[in-house]
Amino acid sequence: MGKYLVCITGASGALYGIRAIKALVEGGHEVHGIVSHWGNQVIMEETGKAFGSWMGELGLPPERVYAPDDFSSPPASGSFRLDGTVVAPCSMSSIGAIASGVCLNLIHRAALTSLKEGRPLVLVPRETPFSLPDLRNLTALAEVGAAILPASPAFYHTPQTIEDMIDFVVGKILDRLLVEHNLYTRWRSSK
Ligand SMILES: Cc1cc2nc3c(=O)[nH]c(=O)nc-3n(C[C@H](O)[C@H](O)[C@H](O)COP(=O)(O)O)c2cc1C
Repeated sequence: MGKYLVCITGASGALYGIRAIKALVEGGHEVHGIVSHWGNQVIMEETGKAFGSWMGELGLPPERVYAPDDFSSPPASGSFRLDGTVVAPCSMSSIGAIASGVCLNLIHRAALTSLKEGRPLVLVPRETPFSLPDLRNLTALAEVGAAILPASPAFYHTPQTIEDMIDFVVGKILDRLLVEHNLYTRWRSSK
């Protein structure tokens, strides 16, 4: 089983990050989490409760959730070995910080640590339309090895619910981490 860090920033689509944590925990993986200040605000807007209230439901122990301003916590260091880091959803503000190497919070530090250690980093940007600076920042991050995985659900698997659409994106995140799952039906596959 793997060890993963899932970070949630203040872009719309908080459930992508929440569902990613749930799927990894249910898969038996060790999951650690960081939620930015604005990430928590958006979680409250979109789900009606704060991240703290989600943790029990997600099976995420408090000691594995780090304050976004705590640069002394384990994910700030490359010595904290991870099989992958996910930022979902990832705001354009965080994309810009990570692309320019600025650690305004622990999420940026963890993402940059992942890059310097050569470990998988999956960024799930959520914005539309993208500005030219957004596109340049995303290109810079792709060039240094981050997977840019937009929150862009497909329709060919005929989703019936919002959960189906979320699960498609989360399934693509787990695909990128080489994590087994059954979150969506693969193209021309019966299961
Ligand atoms: C309800 C709400 C929705 C937002 N949605 C987005 C979004 O989809 N994409 C984005 O880049 N920023 C969005 N923002 C703005 C970010 O929260 C803001 O840029 C913030 O500085 C991000 O900080 P963080 O990356 O540290 O979480 C939203 C803000 C709020 C309050």
